Amino acid sequence: MYGGGTIMFTTKIQKTALAMLISGAMAGTAYAAPEVLADFHGEMGSCDSCHVSDKGGVSDDNLSHENAQCVSCHGDLKELAAAAPKDKVSPHKSHLIGEIACTSCHKGHEKSVTYCDACHSFDFNMPYGGKWERKFVPVDADKAAQDKAIAAGVKETTDVVVIGSGGAGLAAAVSARDAGAKVILLEKEPVPGGILNLLQVE
Ligand code: HEC
Ligand code: HEC
Ligand code: HEC
Ligand code: HEC
Repeated sequence: MYGGGTIMFTTKIQKTALAMLISGAMAGTAYAAPEVLADFHGEMGSCDSCHVSDKGGVSDDNLSHENAQCVSCHGDLKELAAAAPKDKVSPHKSHLIGEIACTSCHKGHEKSVTYCDACHSFDFNMPYGGKWERKFVPVDADKAAQDKAIAAGVKETTDVVVIGSGGAGLAAAVSARDAGAKVILLEKEPVPGGILNLLQVE
């Protein structure tokens, strides 16, 4: 049944059927515990349960298709939070702004990280998780690649580059756009909001 077409499970019943199918399939085979999310999901289907093709590869920079696939099987943040124990902090409900991509925390092919750990230390048990680590990339990390990129020339031009999607950055971007400018907004964190993420929304 995993011949090639995209597998989209939209109901809980279908998901349960799939989970049963996997455990059935696993029972018969010698099986090493998967280390990352994609390996685990790979046991039950093909690459295109998450990706656009059965050869894998990401849909776009925002992983829009991949995230839509997570939601189609598991539900969105709201649904996940509603199913979570009420006496614990849920990673799926917080003061962070907007609909945060599942893949901000759940990684496909490397250890998942809990973005909340950038500031907190909750006792989450992240499936296929690793420890939060900030990666500092030295500016001269790959001189050859930088030289090549510079030699290739500028790919896109814009009128205004805004750095940071906090209140000030967003306001600047909106004003510049309203005034007719072409704007690129850059954010170093996996979620937008900057300092606004520190406000508590009840
Ligand atoms: C085709 C349906 C499907 C897709 C697409 C899918 N999952 Fe799953 N996922 C499952 C099933 C079935 C399980 C095993 C049963 C369960 O734990 O819910 C599972 C298990 C998991 C688990 C482990 C749960 C645990 O408690 O050990 C996590 C985390 C997870 N998925 C996250 C994701 C994320 C993030 C994405 C998108 C990148 C994704 N899944 C895409 C069906 C899917
Ligand atoms: C801010 C980080 C973060 C984001 C974003 C996130 N998750 Fe999770 N997720 C976690 C952590 C941490 C756990 C482990 C929960 C625990 O220990 O109670 C988890 C657990 C899960 C589980 C296992 C069952 C459960 O509810 O505990 C599933 C399935 C899952 N996430 C799916 C998703 C999907 C689908 C999305 C996107 C809609 C998503 N997650 C977004 C951090 C995140
Ligand atoms: C559970 C969903 C899931 C499954 C199943 C999955 N992937 Fe991925 N894949 C992701 C996510 C999420 C990313 C984004 C990078 C990351 O989180 O590791 C990704 C990234 C990639 C990339 C881009 C690599 C990069 O670092 O940018 C390739 C290529 C890829 N996957 C191939 C595959 C192949 C081939 C398979 C099947 C063997 C597969 N994937 C199965 C979720 C999945
Ligand atoms: C950029 C840093 C940052 C990130 C990332 C972050 N938080 Fe927070 N969080 C804060 C700050 C600052 C406070 C306010 C602390 C206070 O009032 O003592 C706070 C408060 C909270 C509180 C209330 C705590 C209390 O003791 O009353 C909860 C719950 C919480 N955050 C959950 C989360 C979750 C869940 C995530 C991940 C989805 C997350 N936060 C991500 C900075 C962050």
